[in-house]
Amino acid sequence: PLILVLNGPNLNLLGTREPEIYGTDTLEDVRLVAARAAEQLGCTLDFRQSNHEGVLIDWIHEARGTAAGIIINAGAYTHTSIALLDALKAVDLPVIEVHLSNIFHREPFRHTSYPGRAAVGVIAGFGGQSYVLAVAALANLLRASQV
Ligand code: DQA
Repeated sequence: PLILVLNGPNLNLLGTREPEIYGTDTLEDVRLVAARAAEQLGCTLDFRQSNHEGVLIDWIHEARGTAAGIIINAGAYTHTSIALLDALKAVDLPVIEVHLSNIFHREPFRHTSYPGRAAVGVIAGFGGQSYVLAVAALANLLRASQV
């Protein structure tokens, strides 16, 4: 199965961006580890990043008919974007939300999530490992829905 992994704004700067919060791994490092985990579970990742809300929405629409599920780290759009939530609801694919940081340890404005309302579950606080856990969770879901 193909899993679409979407990364939102500023995640292209991972590795140099607030390393005390997000660590020093780059997004490419995160992609490589997640892709290896996916391969072991018989899944393939289509791993993307955009700083633009509309581009993320277009990619969610395109996932309909091509991807089996979506993993999304919407960055700060997590806390603002009803449009992303609506797009996720519209495509009717299983969604898992991920965050590098534990958003509940942070500022109150990070404690809410719009995509979370469309997600089966949320994994936050494990750095790049959050993506590996999300891949495992989604692979499990897809396997369970096949039987
Ligand atoms: C983030 C958490 C968001 O609050 C923040 O805006 C990000 C990254 C995370 O992965 O921890 O850009 O989604």
